[in-house]
Amino acid sequence: MTELDGPTTGPAFRKPTISDGAPLWRLVREIDVLDDNSCYVYLLLCRDFADTCLVAEFQGALVGFVTGYVPPTRPDSIFVWQVGVAPQARRRGIAQQLLLQLVASEAGRRAQYLEATVSPSNAASRRLFQAAADALGAPLNVHRGFDRDHFAGQDHEEEELIRIGPLRKAG
Ligand SMILES: CC(C)(COP(=O)(O)OP(=O)(O)OC[C@H]1O[C@@H](n2cnc3c(N)ncnc32)[C@H](O)[C@@H]1OP(=O)(O)O)[C@@H](O)C(=O)NCCC(=O)NCCS
Repeated sequence: MTELDGPTTGPAFRKPTISDGAPLWRLVREIDVLDDNSCYVYLLLCRDFADTCLVAEFQGALVGFVTGYVPPTRPDSIFVWQVGVAPQARRRGIAQQLLLQLVASEAGRRAQYLEATVSPSNAASRRLFQAAADALGAPLNVHRGFDRDHFAGQDHEEEELIRIGPLRKAG
C-alpha cells in the first residue's frame, strides 16, 4: 500500500466473507498488540459472525477490521472482540468509521450498547472508544472486565469492560 488518502479514495467498508479469514488472521499477526489466535477462529468469525464484523479494504488489501458478536446473555449489546488497523493506515479515522458503521449496520441498529474490553495502558484504544461514544452522543461507562489472574498465569494486563450506551433514546 502506498497512499491511502487521495482526493477521492479511501478504504471501502464491508462485511467479511470466508475468503477474508486468512488475510484477517495475517493482519492481526501484523498488529502485535493484539492476541494471536488461530486462523480457524477468523474463519468462524467471517462465516458465522459476519453480521457483527466489518473489514476496511484499500487497493485490494485489508487495512482494518472490527470483529464482534452479540453476547447470548446480553442480546441488547454488541461486544467488540478485536478492532485493528494496519500500522501504516492509522490516525485517519478508519477505526472510528469501523465502529460507527457497525453501530449503523442492521445488527447494530438492534443494539443498545457497544461493549469492549480495553487494557488500561492502551491509550489509542481508550481514545478510540471515547471518540466513538462522543460521536454517538452516548455515555461510556467502565466496569470490571477480566483481571490479570484470569489469564492463566500469562503476562497479560487486566482488561476493563467498556459499555457505550444506551445508543438510542426510547420512543
Ligand atoms: C486502536 C486502533 C484500532 C486505532 O485505529 P485508528 O484507525 O488509528 O484510529 P482513528 O484514526 O479512528 O482514531 C480514533 C480516535 O483515537 C485517537 N487515537 C488513535 N490512535 C491514537 C494513539 N496512538 N494515541 C492516542 N489517541 C489515538 C484518535 O485521535 C481519535 O480520537 P479523536 O477523534 O478524539 O481525535 C489502532 O491504533 C490499532 O490497531 N492499535 C492496535 C490494536 C489495538 O490496540 N486494538 C484495540 C484493542 S482490541
